[in-house]
Amino acid sequence: MKILVTGGAGYIGSTTAKALEQAGHTPVILDSLLIGPRVFVKDRIFYEGDIADRDLVERIVTEHPDIECTIHMAARIVVPESVEQPYEYYRDNVAKSLELFDQLVRLGKPRVLFSSSASLYATVDDFEVDEHAPLDPGSPYARTKRVMEMALTDMASATSLRAIILRYFNPIGSDPDLESGIYAREPSHVLGQLVMAAQGQKDAFTITGVEHPTRDGTGIRDYIHVWDLAQAHVAAVQRFDEVLNMEDAPSAIINVGTGSGVTVRELVQSFEKVFGKPVPIKEAPPRPGDAIGAFANVDKARDVLGWTSSLTIDDAIASALAWGKKRKDVLGYP
Ligand SMILES: NC(=O)c1ccc[n+]([C@@H]2O[C@H](COP(=O)([O-])OP(=O)(O)OC[C@H]3O[C@@H](n4cnc5c(N)ncnc54)[C@H](O)[C@@H]3O)[C@@H](O)[C@H]2O)c1
Repeated sequence: MKILVTGGAGYIGSTTAKALEQAGHTPVILDSLLIGPRVFVKDRIFYEGDIADRDLVERIVTEHPDIECTIHMAARIVVPESVEQPYEYYRDNVAKSLELFDQLVRLGKPRVLFSSSASLYATVDDFEVDEHAPLDPGSPYARTKRVMEMALTDMASATSLRAIILRYFNPIGSDPDLESGIYAREPSHVLGQLVMAAQGQKDAFTITGVEHPTRDGTGIRDYIHVWDLAQAHVAAVQRFDEVLNMEDAPSAIINVGTGSGVTVRELVQSFEKVFGKPVPIKEAPPRPGDAIGAFANVDKARDVLGWTSSLTIDDAIASALAWGKKRKDVLGYP
């Protein structure tokens, strides 16, 4: 199958493009390179441009009439930036996505797989959330994702559009061949910070929030290896129509995680085991807006996608550490 992948120069998009290729499919990348690096596109079919450029989307479909599905990953994704720049986030993640979806429907390309996020979920007592759990998107970024989930559901009810919405939990790790991974100069997420502390690029790793109502007081997440996440997309595009038939609806929402919650202290322990040395640790109060967290109930992913994660947190940590050493060769900066 030929699959249009918007945001295919990004962290998850480039890994998913590789997983699609390995399963015998052909990704067609549409990315503005707003954030993603050109080097992650490799020699794939590539259109540099904006998702809201209707003429460009028409040209892509004319040149690749055999595109069977679109994986829409292009977005702005930095939570604190979304608090400071809500206009840019709503414009790019909401308004531009609507232009893309409407154009795809007009061009007769109705199948859309959408990247949503676990950051939509409210905190629940045991931290395990299924797709019906209460929502409380806590930032402009998360709200743009929720708005798009609602827009896709409404468009699917009223038009030929068909949507599978994947709520990703916390992707970590890198491409298995170390051709892509986290590329921010100073990664803000927890594992990137741990790698920097381990490599001496920071004095210490700071645990923000140690008095949460979790088993050890630190935040809880469901860390999923990005390669497993990529495989979930392969399963979803291959079973697209079947998934919606099982759902008996024109759209579906599916959690994509491992099904296990890991606290920050547990992550640090796993990291030190894989790294082989202790990492200097500091403790600090939670940052404003820090969520206690959640982990996925993954029954639906197993039942309808026929997919479960297969890599361990140790695999993901080893992969992130290996990428940390290699990435200067790929990106040109440490
Ligand atoms: N990384 C995570 O932890 C995480 C968690 C949950 C959901 N997601 C979602 O997964 C998707 C991919 O995330 P990622 O981590 O790979 O992010 P990323 O920033 O690495 O990739 C996003 C890509 O989209 C491109 N892009 C942005 N706006 C564009 C536009 N208007 N037109 C064309 N291209 C545009 C960027 O250049 C970039 O290459 C996003 O939709 C994100 O919201 C990510």
